[in-house]
Amino acid sequence: MAPTAPLVEDVSIKELANSSDIKAIPSHFKFVVDPQGSISDSLPIVDFSLLLSDDADQRSQALKDLAKACEEWGFFVLINHGIPESLMKAIVDASLEFFDLPLEERRRYEPKSASDPIKAGAGTANGADHKVFLWRDFMKSYVHPILYCPDKPPHLRDIVAEYAEKCRFLLRKLLQGISENLELEAGSMDETLNLDSCYQLYATNFYPPCPQPDQTIGIPSHTDPGLLTFLIHNGVAGLQIQHNGEWFHATSPPNAILVNTADHLEIFSNGRYKSVKHRAVVNTEKVRISVVVASGPEPSVIVSPCEELVRRDGRALYGSMKFIEYVETQLSSRYDGKSNLECMKIQDNQE
Ligand code: OGA
Ligand code: NI
Repeated sequence: MAPTAPLVEDVSIKELANSSDIKAIPSHFKFVVDPQGSISDSLPIVDFSLLLSDDADQRSQALKDLAKACEEWGFFVLINHGIPESLMKAIVDASLEFFDLPLEERRRYEPKSASDPIKAGAGTANGADHKVFLWRDFMKSYVHPILYCPDKPPHLRDIVAEYAEKCRFLLRKLLQGISENLELEAGSMDETLNLDSCYQLYATNFYPPCPQPDQTIGIPSHTDPGLLTFLIHNGVAGLQIQHNGEWFHATSPPNAILVNTADHLEIFSNGRYKSVKHRAVVNTEKVRISVVVASGPEPSVIVSPCEELVRRDGRALYGSMKFIEYVETQLSSRYDGKSNLECMKIQDNQE
């Protein structure tokens, strides 16, 4: 397709938004956000401290909350998670500093191949009849089992390393709880997916104020590769999740972590826990920044539905694929065409 707009890599939304007092968005950013999101007063909350509690009743209540959240929403607000407020602020601030670097510096990480460990740029999606440019800049890097990180700002690396380590602790405890809820043997998920060497991707998204927020999108509807995704932000709302076909604002108290179930939890659980659809919308007034940590098994693990669950269900509903291959195909075709997860579903020919 001959692009009529500049190449993605030539665009930084930050520069565009700053470049002039733009009153209207350029036409290649037009995207129909339909329908707008609404507010829910019943977003699931999981109290992490209760999952670690010695009190059996408290722990069992937390496990129930976790099960319900995964089954019904594929999303929950994690509170009392133990990550210090100062570290959360530090990673948000350092991520913001990355976007303050000169464009030339950020361009060093222009994606050349899906397997590049660090990538930065803007992004596109397929609109109804043309390529749509997204109202956001991003940077993504693989941070575990090997830590990659841009070398500027200089303190980013240590902060990312510390934050990612804390997220791994949360991940493994939450997955232990999920294994229990699925009535799997303790430790089986940890072992099958080799979580000691689990994959983690750190991604940060920068959304400048937008003159016509209802006519464009930060990130269109998608699901994430991996098991669980952790998201924090600078206090400016923008994440929306789909629930029973409707879009809801994912609001949260300060310092909570927004957690969503991702594709490989759907595959591993043989469809019990669905990977939740979500998107990011933009606003007229404030810069929004999000810091996302996506997680998965050890990159070379071939993920398939858990054997025990397949035995109970009588058949596997998903095929298998090496985890890192899945991630890399998704990263290169993320918002275009049929999702990877759809491609993994096994049709039942008898039906
Ligand atoms: C993502 C994502 C949402 C947000 O990076 O995969 O869904 O609110 N981000 O930035
Ligand atoms: Ni996402």
